[in-house]
Amino acid sequence: MPKKFYITTPIYYVNDVPHIGHAYTTIAADVLARYHRLKGEAVFFLTGTDEHGQKVEKAATERGLTPKAHADSMTVNFQRLWEKLEISNDAFIRTTDREHVAVVQELLRKLYDAGEIERRTYEGWYCTPDERFWTGKEIVEGKCPDCGRPVERITEDNYFFLMSKYQDRLIEHISKNPNYIQPESRRNEVLGFLRTQKLGDLCISRPKARLSWGIELPFDRDFVTYVWFDALVNYFSAARYLSPPAGGESGPSEKEKFWWPADHHLVGKDILTTHSVYWSTMLMALGLSLPGNIFAHGWWTLDGKKMSKSLGNVVDPNEVVDTYGADAFRYFVLREVPFGLDGDFSIETFTTRFNTELANDLGNLLSRVITMIEKYFDGKIPQASSDQPSDRQLREIAAAIAPKVEEDLGSLSFTKYIHDVWALVTRANRYVEENAPWKLAKNKDLERLGSVLYNLAEALRRAGLYLAPVMPSTSQKIWDALGLEGRIASCRRQDEQAWGRTAAGTAIEAGAQLFPRIDL
Ligand code: MSP
Repeated sequence: MPKKFYITTPIYYVNDVPHIGHAYTTIAADVLARYHRLKGEAVFFLTGTDEHGQKVEKAATERGLTPKAHADSMTVNFQRLWEKLEISNDAFIRTTDREHVAVVQELLRKLYDAGEIERRTYEGWYCTPDERFWTGKEIVEGKCPDCGRPVERITEDNYFFLMSKYQDRLIEHISKNPNYIQPESRRNEVLGFLRTQKLGDLCISRPKARLSWGIELPFDRDFVTYVWFDALVNYFSAARYLSPPAGGESGPSEKEKFWWPADHHLVGKDILTTHSVYWSTMLMALGLSLPGNIFAHGWWTLDGKKMSKSLGNVVDPNEVVDTYGADAFRYFVLREVPFGLDGDFSIETFTTRFNTELANDLGNLLSRVITMIEKYFDGKIPQASSDQPSDRQLREIAAAIAPKVEEDLGSLSFTKYIHDVWALVTRANRYVEENAPWKLAKNKDLERLGSVLYNLAEALRRAGLYLAPVMPSTSQKIWDALGLEGRIASCRRQDEQAWGRTAAGTAIEAGAQLFPRIDL
C-alpha cells in the first residue's frame, strides 16, 4: 500500500464570506496535497465549514433564516471559491453532517463514561449581549471589557473536560517532538505558556436555554457542545466517513486506521492554542494518536492595515482571481511571505511580481522557445546533438531541484520551494542569452540551435513539473505547449524527472501568453 498523507485546513465559520486568510491556508494545503500525489502517495486533503455555535446562530437570526438554511447558503461561497482556485480537496466536511454529529456524540459519551468530563457549577460575570463570561479580573468597573455594557453575576451548571491533568504529558509531547508545533517561535510560545501557567479545565457545554444551535450532549439533553469541541473533532470524524478507501477497504474502521492521525493540521496563528492545547489533550484523553504536525501561519494585512469587514478593506480572492487568474494569486501568496510570518497584500507588490516573475521570467521564456521552435524547426522539437558546458550547467541545476524541494516542503517552506524551482527558470533565461539562438539561426548553425532549443524545452518541462503543485493550470499549459501528453497532475514525479524525456520530433502547440503583462 502506498504511503499515506493526510492534510487538513481549519473548517471555516459560515458567518462570513471567504477572504484572503481562508484562501491562504487552503492554497498552502493544496500545494502539499498535489505535491504528495505527484510522488505517488495516497492523499487525503480535507477542508470544510464550521457551522454550529453562537456566531453562526447570530448571523442566521440577523438574516431571518434558520441556522441550517443560513449555513447551506454560505457553504457554497467556500465551495465555489475552492473550485475557482483549483483546490483539489478530496472531501468537504460540514459539522452539520449527520455522520460527524454521531462521531462527536460518540466521543463525548466515551469521555464522560471514562470520567474525563465532569459537571460543575460555574460562577462568573456574564455579558448578555455578547453572550460570554468574564472573570472578576477582566471586567472593568462592573462592565464588559469588550462592549462596555453592564455584566451580571451568573451561576450556571456546565460540563468540563478535565484538561488540566494532561498538562505535563502535553509539555512532554511537545518537547520530545520538535516538529509537532511549527514554526519554532510558535512552539516556544506554547511551551512557555504551558510551563508557566496552570492549565484549567475546559468548559465544553452550553445550556440550551442560552444557545440551542449545537450538538446535544449525549448524556444531558439540556446542553449542547461548545463549538470548538465539535469543530476539532472534524479532523477525526472525516477520516472515518469522508476519506478515500484505504487500500480498497471502505469500512469506517479500516479507513480510520489507515488515515488517522493527520500528518498536518494547517491553521492560522490565532487558533493555535485551540489546536495545540484543546485538541491534543482531547486526543490524549480519548487514547487516540496525536497529529504529526500543527503549523500556524501568519496573518495578512491589506496595504499595511488590519483587514476588517467594518473598514471594508478585505481582500476578496474572487476579484483577484477573476482579474488575474488563480495561478497568479496562488503563486503570489506563497512566494511573497515565508509561511509562518505575517504578510501584506497590495496590488502594487502583486503587480510587480506578476510582471517580473510570471510574465517576464516564465511566460516570456516559454513563448520565446515555442516561437523559435516553430520558426526554425517547423514546430517540432529538435534533436540535441552537441554538449557544451552551459548545457551541463542547466542540467545540473535541474537535477538539484528534487532533493531541495523535498526538504523545502518537508518544512512547509513554500517560499523556498518556489525560489528553488525558479533557479532553473532564471538559469534557462541566462542560457538563452549565453547561447543567443537568434545568432545561431543567422549563422545557419542548425545543429547547435537544435541542441539549445531542445535543452530549453527540457528545462521548461522540468520547471512545469515542479511548479505543478503551485500553479496547476500554468504547468498544464506548459506541458501542452511542449506537446507532452496527458495531464501533468496524473504524472508520477519519479518517472518524469530524468533529463531527456522529451522526444525529438514532438509537435509543439503554440498558445496564448501564460501571463499577459498588467498595466496598472
Ligand atoms: N471555525 C474556526 C476554525 C475551526 S478549526 C477546527 C475558525 N474559523 S474562521 O473562519 O474564523 O477562521 C479560519 C482561519 O482563517 C483561521 O486559521 C484564521 O487564522 C484565518 N484567518 C482569518 N483572518 C486572517 C488573515 N487576515 N490572514 C490570514 N489568515 C487569517 O477560526
